[in-house]
Amino acid sequence: MELFGSLTELVKPVLGFAAKWAGELIAATLFAGGAIALGLVSRLATRVINRWNALKRARQAINHPEGLWTFDKPLKSSLVRPNQRVLVVANAKGGVGKTTVAANLAASLSTQLTKPVLLIDLDFQGSLSTMAIVDRANRVVPGQLSRASKLISGIMSVGDILHMPQATNTSNIRVVPAYYDLSREENRVMLGWVIGDIDDPRFSLAKLLSSAEVQDHFGVVIIDCAPRLTTGTIQALAAGSHLLIPTILDGPSSEAVASFITQVENFRADGLCPNIHYVGVLPTMQFPRVNYDGARKYLTDRLKEVQYAPGISGPRLLDISFVASTDVRKAFGRGIAYFRLGSTPAARKVKQAIDALAFDVVSTIGLAVNRPASPTPFPPPPNPRAPNEVQRTRQNPRELRSSLPAAE
Ligand SMILES: Nc1ncnc2c1ncn2[C@@H]1O[C@H](COP(=O)(O)OP(=O)(O)OP(=O)(O)O)[C@@H](O)[C@H]1O
Ligand SMILES: [Mg+2]
Repeated sequence: MELFGSLTELVKPVLGFAAKWAGELIAATLFAGGAIALGLVSRLATRVINRWNALKRARQAINHPEGLWTFDKPLKSSLVRPNQRVLVVANAKGGVGKTTVAANLAASLSTQLTKPVLLIDLDFQGSLSTMAIVDRANRVVPGQLSRASKLISGIMSVGDILHMPQATNTSNIRVVPAYYDLSREENRVMLGWVIGDIDDPRFSLAKLLSSAEVQDHFGVVIIDCAPRLTTGTIQALAAGSHLLIPTILDGPSSEAVASFITQVENFRADGLCPNIHYVGVLPTMQFPRVNYDGARKYLTDRLKEVQYAPGISGPRLLDISFVASTDVRKAFGRGIAYFRLGSTPAARKVKQAIDALAFDVVSTIGLAVNRPASPTPFPPPPNPRAPNEVQRTRQNPRELRSSLPAAE
């Protein structure tokens, strides 16, 4: 009994305290519980809203009439400076000689410019990289993203791009090599942007290439694109000051050129590449003794049908043609053909055609040429009335045809 009494005495203050603060305790417990519940609900709501927005963006991208690249309107102010020298070699048609033109043009220009040429490979097939750099160890680092992947992901710094590997046979060409991982990286970047997980990737290359350091360091930048509107191609168009479109002269390829240029004009109107200049459409892989007059007219007519932006006259169909040559084809895997062309009449014709293209590019872009390539300067552009240089080539057309891939 006595024990009970002393226990009651002990519990009394506790009960008194509880009675005094019960209201506050209940309120505090309710408040803490409410706050936790509110936090959970708001986190859940944010997740639902984010998912909803991602789905909305994805739907907009999928249903955008001009393709997903302009569903989220690009910046209207281009990052490309007026005197920028970034030449994009592109065409949505495959196997038309884009890579061969980009590599050989770079080779010719590299013998003319004091500053190095930067060649960027934005095709996951890596053909340009294989063409320009013979030693595989210099273009593929096992276990690492290729340099092209780092470039399009926006994780390459200005310092990095100034120190790219050099091409075989010359220190005046630097190469950003690509490898098969580029395809996966391009999809990751594109889808990440579409669902709003990553920042707008369309202008990251433009930002890097327009930096004063890159523009001062390189005489010209040449970008070889994949035959599709990939993340790399879009970044190249947004970064490019000039566009060269190689094509085979046949019906399907002419239609493809017109369709590609229409797409470029849509991008121009949407602000993706508002100031890109056409260098022209370059006929490639032309066979000796074949008359291309009809094919040229067909392509010229298709080019006239494209709706150009006000003040844009559309690309010229260049008089220069990149001759089909076994010398060019056989050089694959041994370095850029231009550096390996012999002194046979056929090889000299190929070299002349490449130099004529370089001459056109130098004057169109306004490059400062400091070092003549050879004792014979660039030939003047061919006279359209004279027989085509290509048609006078002495190579056997049957041999050439059998060495070339079938047109797509
Ligand atoms: N002038 C040429 N003479 C002979 N072969 C050529 C010539 N130009 C390109 N080729 C050959 O044609 C094939 C396709 O050329 P290339 O890879 O340059 O085209 P591409 O348009 O870049 O192709 P892709 O769309 O797949 O990137 C290659 O095997 C190349 O060696
Ligand atoms: Mg190619």
